[in-house]
Amino acid sequence: MPAGTIAPRDWASHPPYIYPDYKSTVLRGPKHPLVPLRHTLSELTGPVYGHESVRPLDSDLTKNGARSGEPLGERIIVAGRVLDEAGRPVRNTLIEVWQANAAGRYIHKADQHDAPLDPNFFGGGRCVTDEAGRYRFMTVKPGAYPWPNHHNAWRPNHIHFSLFGPTIATRLVTQMYFPGDPLLALDPIFLSAPEGARDRMVSTFSLDVTESGYALGYIFDIVLRGPAETPMETGR
Ligand SMILES: [Fe+2]
Repeated sequence: MPAGTIAPRDWASHPPYIYPDYKSTVLRGPKHPLVPLRHTLSELTGPVYGHESVRPLDSDLTKNGARSGEPLGERIIVAGRVLDEAGRPVRNTLIEVWQANAAGRYIHKADQHDAPLDPNFFGGGRCVTDEAGRYRFMTVKPGAYPWPNHHNAWRPNHIHFSLFGPTIATRLVTQMYFPGDPLLALDPIFLSAPEGARDRMVSTFSLDVTESGYALGYIFDIVLRGPAETPMETGR
């Protein structure tokens, strides 16, 4: 591949824009074929952020929203690496996460389901990958929550991830799931990703990442672009 270009997105790794079992995609998915645009300098560079504004506490969701104590729930560590299509580390790249609290509730006016907010949990965090492409978040395990897609629909435990990578064309928004969750087999958002790619969104429990007496550890590696790319989400 010529220098300064990136691999085309491998659509076999991603959900279709319209997936009828996930009802709102029918309304918002494009009805016409996409028009490919040739990459120019603006897609192959940036974005560049003021990384100095990312503070160490931003990656600790058990502390960045604390007002009078610690958030309730099972403390967990989520760590991993961000890699490009050739398996090289993606360094110094911004990762943003957001999630429900341990009771399965977001601080958002659109989320009015019958579960308590946690006064010590904000539910958002960010960090920048290191020289080996590594990242690490401390948080609490998000609860499952109901949603109105169909009767008795529940989202599996999940954490939302947004990454930019080295160029705007490597932007990825995805969700991380937990191993062994019985709701995965029932979740149209998880199932909208092609079968062979779904497991890339499921984290792995790790005793090495686990901190003795403090928090369970999960590993979630993320690949930007190429045939091994982590599937993007279609929303929610
Ligand atoms: Fe969510």
